[in-house]
Amino acid sequence: MNDQLILVIGATGKTGSRIASRLEARGYPVRRGSRSSATPFDWEAPETWAPALRGAGAAYVTYFPDLAFPGAVEKLESLCETARDVGVEHLVLLSGRGEHHARLGEEVVRNSGVDFTIVRAAWFAQNFSEGYLRDPVLAGVLPMPGGDIAEPIIDIDDIANVVVAALTEEGHRGELYEVTGPRLMSFAEMAMELSQASGQEIRHIPISFEDFHANVARAGGPFVADVFTAIARETLDGRNAHTTDGVMRALGRAPRDFADFARAAARTGAWTSAA
Ligand SMILES: NC(=O)c1ccc[n+]([C@@H]2O[C@H](COP(=O)([O-])OP(=O)(O)OC[C@H]3O[C@@H](n4cnc5c(N)ncnc54)[C@H](OP(=O)(O)O)[C@@H]3O)[C@@H](O)[C@H]2O)c1
Repeated sequence: MNDQLILVIGATGKTGSRIASRLEARGYPVRRGSRSSATPFDWEAPETWAPALRGAGAAYVTYFPDLAFPGAVEKLESLCETARDVGVEHLVLLSGRGEHHARLGEEVVRNSGVDFTIVRAAWFAQNFSEGYLRDPVLAGVLPMPGGDIAEPIIDIDDIANVVVAALTEEGHRGELYEVTGPRLMSFAEMAMELSQASGQEIRHIPISFEDFHANVARAGGPFVADVFTAIARETLDGRNAHTTDGVMRALGRAPRDFADFARAAARTGAWTSAA
């Protein structure tokens, strides 16, 4: 079975890079799919999709930047049609918890006629070490909206392991794995764990969604701020404030705690300014 070629979309990203490396370590041939890869894959260039999918038995599908962006669900639908047409047998979709557009994307994959597994994930712990929340950690100030709302933040090493299991083991087709970390945490609690692990004080500053919008707009412009603020409003309204058993169901073990993530990230230099 491990002569099956697997396409990993977003293979230079946070989840895709881990998934591609784990698959290669297990001896699977992997085609890395991103705009810069040897066989390029670009969500904005549909002509790249068939060459990237052709010959693959399975594919990990992650959309960039987010399924909430206009046209994303339609593009995902076309991608699924292309996958079916060129004979891909299994699609593993990364989705987001509590997001309306992500749910529409899941339905597209469910109805694609290709076998599927859906991994519906909580907020990523690695947003703090490899993503848009790293700069606030370095600055020691974490301005986040949502009040005291708690989120069961997940270590993406767990997500990668679930995806790899889904791609390489029997028994995961047709499954929806809603994956979270093991405990609900407020942003203040996350800041406390980050402080302890990094050895420098990081303070959570509660802000309004309007201020969150203004902050995102300064970095990414008003349109990007609209989309990400809508996602924040959706996912931080209490609907996601519970843990789930997705990691346990997929892997037979509990997910890793945020404190363990933070200690490991600090050890590998995630918050030294050169990282
Ligand atoms: N962050 C969270 O807390 C969270 C939670 C749940 C779900 N999600 C979902 O996770 C997904 C992002 O996954 P990630 O964090 O692993 O990715 P990421 O780290 O944001 O990396 C993005 C990847 O997409 C590639 N990329 C960028 N533009 C592209 C384009 N036009 N066409 C094709 N590839 C492109 C990048 O490579 P190149 O630049 O080389 O092309 C890179 O490999 C999103 O769909 C998001 O909704 C995120």
